[in-house]
Amino acid sequence: MATTTGTPEANEVAGEDGVRRRDFIEIAAVSAAGVGGLVMVYPLVSQMAPSADVLAESTTELDIGALETGQAVKAVFRKQPVFVRRLTPAEMQAADAVDAESLRDPQTLADRTQEGHEDVLVVMGVCTHLGCVPLGAAEGENKGEYGGYFCPCHGSHYDTAARIRKGPAPTNLEVPEYTITDTTLVIG
Ligand code: FES
Repeated sequence: MATTTGTPEANEVAGEDGVRRRDFIEIAAVSAAGVGGLVMVYPLVSQMAPSADVLAESTTELDIGALETGQAVKAVFRKQPVFVRRLTPAEMQAADAVDAESLRDPQTLADRTQEGHEDVLVVMGVCTHLGCVPLGAAEGENKGEYGGYFCPCHGSHYDTAARIRKGPAPTNLEVPEYTITDTTLVIG
């Protein structure tokens, strides 16, 4: 669904607005493929240039009905990249097989998802070390040693629940506030 990266550009630190231009290109491609909401949200943000207080209150709405098991999409929430993944049963089992208390930032998959929607993982696409955009959301990208996300800047590996498992990042990828109603995901 999304484009493949892994080039040197992937090592760029997120820009002033926290999102690489490359990600906007990927987001546009995803929108064209039929995941609703993105087409409306980004042009609105970019053309109207809302003030900081308006931006802080904004939400991002996505139709995740077409998001198949094992797929992920990149979107934008308050000018930051956000990753939405529908986990496979194997990815959920891998996350649940870990003793959460043994982790650097102890959280279970259930802690990081919503009841009844444990297969939908929503995280900010911002590495908690120094803010790079991790790889792993787009098809073919490096997911790291634990099958989730990999930050190429300094080598942080996140697992299938986007929890930090190896490398310098101090905490798990942040889970933003969100709600899921039927097939609609509203972040913020
Ligand atoms: S910014 Fe991700 S590992 Fe340093």
